[in-house]
Amino acid sequence: MNSILLIGFMGAGKSTVGSLLAQKLNWPMIDLDDLITEKIQMPINDYFDQFGEATFRQVESNVLKDNLRTKAIIATGGGIVVSALNRSLLKAQPKVIYLKTEPQTLVTRIKNDTKNIRPLATEKSEGEIISLLNGRLTHYEDSAAIVVETTERSPEEIVEEIMERLAMA
Ligand code: S3P
Repeated sequence: MNSILLIGFMGAGKSTVGSLLAQKLNWPMIDLDDLITEKIQMPINDYFDQFGEATFRQVESNVLKDNLRTKAIIATGGGIVVSALNRSLLKAQPKVIYLKTEPQTLVTRIKNDTKNIRPLATEKSEGEIISLLNGRLTHYEDSAAIVVETTERSPEEIVEEIMERLAMA
């Protein structure tokens, strides 16, 4: 059994859409960042400060590999496609969904999100966030089997499209 993986930039709605999809399909939902936090025993932001991004990416790859065959909806972290290894793991999966969102919408959501402290976005300028996104865009497209537009659409509409495209509606 393959998992259904949601990829996309920070603020794309992976956790929100993932929870709703899990509810509709009656599948469990896994948030990869939560599993990583459990494993590293500290907030991701602190881990970045102490060990750097490269070490975080290794932990992220291991947690991804461990869960690819779980029957679950998996919300990934926005940087999952930074690693070439992760990109090839994702490409080999049939149910990887890229939640594609306009840059301005992402920036607004990230800036309004006071709950998540993101080492690569919190305290960064709009220009820095957009250039990070631009560097990843082709990776998201290349790693996904299905691309779903999310700008100005409700989580319900997005979930409906995902279920139709996976022929699970
Ligand atoms: C990251 C995104 C975050 C988290 C970490 C790094 C990124 O996840 O994994 O802060 O590099 O884009 P979200 O996309 O859930 O915010």
